[in-house]
Amino acid sequence: MSLLDGRRDPARLALVMVGLPARGKTHMARRLARYLRWLGVSTRVFNVGNYRRERLGSHQSHDFFDPDNPEGREARREMAMAALEDMLAWFASGGEVGLYDATNTTAGRRRLVAERLRAHGLDVVFVESVCEDEAVIASNIRQTKLRMPDYAGVSEDEAVADFRARIAHYERVYEPVDESEGSYVRVVDVGRKVVAHRVQGYLPSRLVHFLMNLHVAPRSIWLTRHGESTFNVENRVGGDPGLSPAGERFREALAAHVGGLEASRKDMRVWTSTLRRTRETASAIGLPTEEWRSLDEIDAGACDGMTYDEIRDQLPKEHAARRENKLTYRYPRGESYVDVIRRLEPVILELERERRPVLVVAHQAVLRGLYAYLMDRPPKEVPYLPVPLHTVIRLTPITYGCEEERFTLAPASP
Ligand code: SIN
Repeated sequence: MSLLDGRRDPARLALVMVGLPARGKTHMARRLARYLRWLGVSTRVFNVGNYRRERLGSHQSHDFFDPDNPEGREARREMAMAALEDMLAWFASGGEVGLYDATNTTAGRRRLVAERLRAHGLDVVFVESVCEDEAVIASNIRQTKLRMPDYAGVSEDEAVADFRARIAHYERVYEPVDESEGSYVRVVDVGRKVVAHRVQGYLPSRLVHFLMNLHVAPRSIWLTRHGESTFNVENRVGGDPGLSPAGERFREALAAHVGGLEASRKDMRVWTSTLRRTRETASAIGLPTEEWRSLDEIDAGACDGMTYDEIRDQLPKEHAARRENKLTYRYPRGESYVDVIRRLEPVILELERERRPVLVVAHQAVLRGLYAYLMDRPPKEVPYLPVPLHTVIRLTPITYGCEEERFTLAPASP
């Protein structure tokens, strides 16, 4: 099910990655896939290198990638076609956005791939990653390539030398994407410059916007709910209550915890919702805070201020409908989880853009939506993700995902 606004027909879009090895293509493809899946779009990455590793074994020396080696060339073509055919079969079974993650460095290879995709009625956009920053390339080689099964049991120096020789083979034949080839986005130095050529339509344009915000600077994102509120104590939904005594203790514990984070504290951004309980919770930290309306708790509409028992007794149909499908259920004159996810998109883009650590002090439904994005969890899981009170979640982006730590700071009321 797609969460995209007003979209009736499924998207049918192939994003064809282009670029020399170690230019962050796989990183970019996976980040795009995570974003699309969070939007509810059926998305899958087809990585040609994985086909090679699975079918031919991972220990191929750089000669295999030499364009003058006819056997290697043929074997690589076969792997590329196998991945492409699997991608087409996946589209035929209802897939919406497929990412074809391979070097695709020659115009000839791209023509072959694009013609086959277009023949199946798919829109094709090339996503080219160019990296002119030698430090980024060196770090990419060390952080991702040396950890590949390709170099298991090989010394670091030997692996770097072989991988650099592999890159040199590709460099000899590399032809950047040309305007005559159709739609493309070229990302230079992880977003320093982004060029979009003939990228049209709702979803592709959103993807360009997303790519413009990506970076690889290491920093943590901290998520916490507000301290326990007086409504939490009474099991009431919504409203704009203040903190309970236990919530006030959490406010102090959170301030002490953030105060202890010497490295990240000084430039940390603190975001709250516009509601009193999050503003009060962040107030002791001693850093400027920014209020986001998009971070306000799910709007419980006609049920605002009621206890869960009152909803069950007075509005049994609403209670049952919510239990039936918590993701799409919309409170009368209020919101559903899907509505919440949609309004979180600007927050996600700002989180992607921001290079400093960010502490988000918000609410259960909203944090479930953000957590699902950061941890690549599907929309159907969002309403059930555990985000307890008085627990600070630290998420730190690592190579292809996020590392999670949880800190329980002060007990809420029993
Ligand atoms: C690989 O086999 O690792 C990559 C193949 C390619 O896309 O050139």
